[in-house]
Amino acid sequence: MLEKYVRQIYDAVKRQNEWRMRTLNLIASENVVSDTVRKIAGSDFAHRYAEGHPGERYYQGTDIIDRIESDLRNHIKTLFRCLQADVRPISGTNANEAVFSSFIEYGDVVMAHSTPGGGHISHHRAGSVGKFTKNVINFPLAADGFHIDIEKTKTLISDARPKMLIFGKSLFLFPEPVKELADICKENDIVVVYDAAHVLGLMAGGIFQDPLQDGAYIVTGSTHKTYFGTQRGIILSNMSSSRWQRVDKGAFPGSSSNHHLDTLVGLAVATQEVISFGKEYAAQTVKNAKALAAALKGVGFDVSAEEFGFTETHQVAVNVKEFGGGRMVANLLKENDIVLNMNVLPYEKLRNVTNPDGIRIGVQEMTRFGMKEDEMERIAQLISDCIAHGKQVRDEVNRFRADFQKVGYSFDAKLGDLKSLKPEFFE
Ligand SMILES: Cc1ncc(COP(=O)(O)O)c(C=O)c1O
Repeated sequence: MLEKYVRQIYDAVKRQNEWRMRTLNLIASENVVSDTVRKIAGSDFAHRYAEGHPGERYYQGTDIIDRIESDLRNHIKTLFRCLQADVRPISGTNANEAVFSSFIEYGDVVMAHSTPGGGHISHHRAGSVGKFTKNVINFPLAADGFHIDIEKTKTLISDARPKMLIFGKSLFLFPEPVKELADICKENDIVVVYDAAHVLGLMAGGIFQDPLQDGAYIVTGSTHKTYFGTQRGIILSNMSSSRWQRVDKGAFPGSSSNHHLDTLVGLAVATQEVISFGKEYAAQTVKNAKALAAALKGVGFDVSAEEFGFTETHQVAVNVKEFGGGRMVANLLKENDIVLNMNVLPYEKLRNVTNPDGIRIGVQEMTRFGMKEDEMERIAQLISDCIAHGKQVRDEVNRFRADFQKVGYSFDAKLGDLKSLKPEFFE
């Protein structure tokens, strides 16, 4: 009986693998890893522990991972031009927690984006920040809802005296005014955190703002949205080594012990891919997002932020209230193998969260599969056929997707002869 259940899980995973290769995945927080990263996954490192830092571990047997981890840390520092990097957090939330636990004391005021303003749950009272303080206030937004109102924020800083500002968000279309608020933050001794979970790959590609240069004290991020995977987190800073000790302890032992060596090795490979192909990929991703936004507008959708060129990231926001709202539209598209998520838009009330007006679209995964501007036009047409004209488009989606099966911006073509590194007893 139990054996049968294991067989069912195996078959379900196989179905997932096959189905996902037929879909247009437009979830803005996801990406795929290269074939090379996949072959390296599942190695003996999937079984192992390595707490602490390379050369200072609490367990024996870590010589090989020590080398890989210290090289990765150095490569990340070079890539992001920073003095400090922690590659141990196992997710973006885990990286945020390491930072928040190091700097927020009970009662401190923290300023972050609201949920309708695009903010992430880890910045909120209900999430990670809320474990350390309940005093969370939100950035005032400009009339368009996608930019911070700088003057109002300055006034709020003077009135509310926040200890920390958290820039960065989940519905993220434009750069943040880090530079514009740097002086007032300095004058008021505010810890400026920039959550780059969504835009890390765009930053690495040099096409988005560089928050450390702009005045952020700490950058956190996920490594698997616009960056090339695996699913982990990262912390970057230019602070001195003595100050960095707080963050270091926040990461270990503060928010994790072992840090999942299998995905760490994958991240080491993915980082080489970013170094080699990240510029070209980031540029194409943003071009694609702009092309998709313009094409959706062209077929009649209410695409957000047109007056600002729609987007400067991998994301596009669309108001689909006239088609029944975000939930209905996202469900209908999913039935047609186009996968994306509903999203609250900036002017909405939080109570709309179960059926918001918006959808959020991310082009980063389809870009990695080789799609360009022409394909974005085709995606817009498919979405329109499905949502505005009630057509079944699944077969067409599957045929279209069949031409985009290889993960690009990688060494896969050169390293195609690499064998999977799963230990033999797994095969
Ligand atoms: C702004 C932001 N920060 C943090 C996270 C959390 O990242 P992770 O899922 O890696 O924990 C997300 C996830 O989507 C996010 O959008």
